[in-house]
Amino acid sequence: MPRPLPEILRIEWPPGQPAPPAATDATLDRAAEVLRRGGLVAVPTETVYGLAANALDELAVEGIFRAKGRPATNPLIVHVADAEMARSLAADWPQAAEAITRELWPGPVTVVVPREERVPLIVTAGGDTVALRCPGHPLARRLIERAGIPLAAPSGNRSERLSPTTAHHVLAGLGNRIDLILDAGPCERGIESTVVDCTTCPPQILRPGPLSRDDLEKVVGPLARRPEDAASTAALARSPGLQARHYAPATPLEMPADPPGRVAQLLAAGHRVGWLVLVADDRSRELAASRDLVAVPMPVDPAGYARQLFATLHALDQRQLDRIVVDPPPAEEAWQAVRDRLTRAARGPGARP
Ligand code: TXA
Ligand code: MG
Repeated sequence: MPRPLPEILRIEWPPGQPAPPAATDATLDRAAEVLRRGGLVAVPTETVYGLAANALDELAVEGIFRAKGRPATNPLIVHVADAEMARSLAADWPQAAEAITRELWPGPVTVVVPREERVPLIVTAGGDTVALRCPGHPLARRLIERAGIPLAAPSGNRSERLSPTTAHHVLAGLGNRIDLILDAGPCERGIESTVVDCTTCPPQILRPGPLSRDDLEKVVGPLARRPEDAASTAALARSPGLQARHYAPATPLEMPADPPGRVAQLLAAGHRVGWLVLVADDRSRELAASRDLVAVPMPVDPAGYARQLFATLHALDQRQLDRIVVDPPPAEEAWQAVRDRLTRAARGPGARP
């Protein structure tokens, strides 16, 4: 018998309230019980939806890899309720980890630190470091507290596909492979956390994210500019997420130097085209009249753009388009995380050589 689709349970915590409504707490307790028994629960965070399991239960974590089709060589982030829980999972607590977690947690930044022995090796892909994050989303933290266990949680998508920023994205991607989906509406940040390796000197960013290099340097001082500057370059090999194709829509995506020219060319060749527009000008407005073009104006600030990015790509993937064209974002530091996701998407499964 095929497994049924997971239930989607709505949870909420209205701003200004000291505690969530009783119904939400009851739902969180139910989800906590599923997790303690080794089940898989999709959980909202401020970045993207995660697919969570008990980080200390090897079999449960195996279930995450199976549901996602994720290679065993790609380690998972462990989510904690607070810095104290984080320290209990670390064999050593580098100064950089102390500074980042004190100043920026809870929030969209993950620290990589030496692994304490009770963290199963399947979580760290056999490595001697572990990635830890205390989510900014109050409902995610409340779930971890009520479960009383750290939660291993990668993004809740099939491997190499777009990260989910709504409960519906999780359902569409993972469906009956998981036990339960908690729905708290769309994610505030929209892209995955910044990952910082705190085991090197100076520390280094392994994955750009919502907190920028500047945000981090204010707290920890200068970070490695290039991998060669960090004491250990093994870190790069340890973060396969950095090298793999990732975050890709099913529709081939490209980021050409002259987007209006490229869109016109594709339309002339009879293709149906989606276009993420950052710079609207006469040429783009003229093209927008075409029946075969779906042009989406994107927010012109990096945080707003990040919030919309995956949702826009998920939506365009539903439109049976031949190609998605993206205006290249500005070269500034503040756009780095968005540029990173788009560059990977352009290398995605549908990409042409
Ligand atoms: O915002 C986020 O970080 C989301 C939400 C759900 O918290 N999670 C997420 O997980 O993006 P995932 O598995 O999709 O990405 C984890 C990234 C990967 O690039 C992985 O290679 C890296 O973190 N990573 C995990 N453990 C690591 C470790 N011990 N050393 C180096 N990189 C690590
Ligand atoms: Mg992911």
